[in-house]
Amino acid sequence: MQIYLDTANISEIREAASWGILSGVTTNPTLIAREKGADFKSVIGEIAELVDGPISAEAVSLDGEGMVKEGLEFAAWHPNVIVKVPCTTEGLKAVYQLAKQGIRTNVTLIFNASQALLSARAGAFIVSPFVGRVDDTGVDGMQLIREISQIYKGDSEIKTKIISASIRHPRHIIDSALAGADIATCPFKVLQMSMRHPLTDRGIEQFLADWKARG
Ligand code: G3P
Repeated sequence: MQIYLDTANISEIREAASWGILSGVTTNPTLIAREKGADFKSVIGEIAELVDGPISAEAVSLDGEGMVKEGLEFAAWHPNVIVKVPCTTEGLKAVYQLAKQGIRTNVTLIFNASQALLSARAGAFIVSPFVGRVDDTGVDGMQLIREISQIYKGDSEIKTKIISASIRHPRHIIDSALAGADIATCPFKVLQMSMRHPLTDRGIEQFLADWKARG
């Protein structure tokens, strides 16, 4: 399973990229807005310089035609740009039209397996089921990944990738991999948490103490 970073923060992307673990980046309007005063196109350009992999840029139009127009503009910014559209019938229209022009899409805000199936049928390159937000409703978000994975694996025509999104903690990353996700897109904080273990720290301390005390 590949790891993407779910952020528009350049310092976080630069740091995670230096670890050699990043295969792509996802952004959304909330994440872009969090980077006060940043210009959308410039942010995507800066990300593209740091990460050689898919970079999702989300359209804000609600109609298919508007999404296609935005998508064509984003796709012209860099060949690695993936056009993110919401999982609505208008979103499906945009996916279908953009796919015909060879432009890859990420269908976001997926909360059930039928939405994922229809998005794949329309020609989505990636779908983004939001596991954390499903968990928030008291339902097992990971079950959604399992269902989509099973459906896609059973259909040889479907090449769409599954991004496990709305990742909230390290266990979500592990469970996403076990449930069949192709990618987990993670907040930087969750990646940092994933790498921390008190026994690792204690082990380093012990090694250093023993090294210093050697005869
Ligand atoms: O990738 C989707 C993600 O940005 C949403 O995460 O934590 O706002 O549900 P969250």
